[in-house]
Amino acid sequence: MTHFHIPIPANATALSDCPALARRAGVGHVLVKVESGRPFGNFKILGGMTAALRALARITGLPVAQLQMRRDLPRLICASDGNHGLAVAAAANLAGAPATIYLHHSVPRARADRIQTLGASIHWVAGTYDDAVDAAVEAAGVDGVLVPDTSSDVNDPIVRDVMSGYATMTDEINVQLAASGNTISHQFIQAGVGGLAAAMAEGLPEARLAIVEPKQAACVAPALAAGRVVRIEGALHTCAEMLACGEASAAALAILARHNPLLVPVSEAALLQAAEIMREVDIHTTPSGSAGLAGLLHVASSGHLKELAGLTRSSTILLVATEAHPDAFTRSLDIELSAARNFAAHFFPEMGLPDGAPSTLNA
Ligand SMILES: Cc1ncc(COP(=O)(O)O)c(C=O)c1O
Repeated sequence: MTHFHIPIPANATALSDCPALARRAGVGHVLVKVESGRPFGNFKILGGMTAALRALARITGLPVAQLQMRRDLPRLICASDGNHGLAVAAAANLAGAPATIYLHHSVPRARADRIQTLGASIHWVAGTYDDAVDAAVEAAGVDGVLVPDTSSDVNDPIVRDVMSGYATMTDEINVQLAASGNTISHQFIQAGVGGLAAAMAEGLPEARLAIVEPKQAACVAPALAAGRVVRIEGALHTCAEMLACGEASAAALAILARHNPLLVPVSEAALLQAAEIMREVDIHTTPSGSAGLAGLLHVASSGHLKELAGLTRSSTILLVATEAHPDAFTRSLDIELSAARNFAAHFFPEMGLPDGAPSTLNA
C-alpha cells in the first residue's frame, strides 16, 4: 500500500493506492480514502458535528465561536446507528449544549457508551433505525433541535448541511488527485440513507457512481426505482451495522437520481469478506466501512456487470473506508474531542479555539 506524499489540506485523511486490491478486482488502480484518521474514527463528524454547530448558531443568532458563552442552549436531538450520534454529541460537548441521541436496540453497547462519555443522554428505541428516526422527530417537536442525517423533506436544511460537511472528503480527494496526477473513473460508495453517496457524486461528478447496499437493508435502490422515498420493512439485520436503514433520505435521493448510479446489492458473506480483504492491505475497518469494496468485487466477478459498469483493466476506482474497526481504534475520547475541536475551528475559522480549550467528558 502506498500513501501519496503530497501537499494536502490540513487535517486531510489519507488517500491510499492499493495495488493488491486493484489486482484482485482486475482494474488499473484502487484508491481508498481512509476515514479512520478522522476525529472519532469515521467520516460522520464532517456532517453531524458541523451541521449541529451551524444549527445552534442559526437558532441563537450567535457565531459558532460564541456558543459556549450561552448557558441556555437548546437540546440537540438525533437518531443514529452510532456514528452520527457521536458527531452530534461531540458538537453538543464543544458548544456546551445538552443532547439526547435516539438509538435502536441493535446498536452495540460500546457505541452507546462512547456517546454517553461525551455527555449526551441515550434514549433506546425498540425496532430499527427508522423507528429511532421517528422517535427523534417526535421528541424534537416537543423540545429540542433535531439534527437529522435523513429526512423525508427534500429541502431539509440540516440534512443538506450534513451532506455539505461530507463534501470535505471530495474537496480533499480532488486536491490529492491533482497532486498525484490521478483521475478516477468509478467510485463504489456504500449507502445507508444515501447522504454519503450523494455528497461523493456531487463532489466527483466525472467518476461513474456505483451505490453499494447490503441486500438485507437496501433502501436506496427501491426508492430510486419508485422515484420516491419508500420504507423497507423487516428487521434490517446486517453485519454492515451502519448501513442498516430502511428509508433513504429524500434530499440524497434527489441528488442521486441525477447521477444515474449503478445499484449494487451485496450479500452478508461478501460484506464480511471485504472487511477481511481490507485488513490484508492494512486498512482496519468494519463491514460498513468496506462495503464499497464488496460491491466492486461483486461487479468485477461478473462479465455482464463489468460491462454494465464499464470496468476495464485501466479503470481507477475510488473506495471510502468510512470507519475504523473498533479494535483498531485506540485513541482516547478526550484526544478525539481535542481533534474534533481543531477540526471545527478549521471548518469555522472564526472559532479559532485554542488547542487546549476545556471540554467535559463523563467518567
Ligand atoms: C461508517 C459508515 N459508513 C457509511 C455510512 C452511510 O452513510 P449514509 O447513511 O449517508 O448513506 C454510515 C452512516 O452512518 C456510516 O456510519
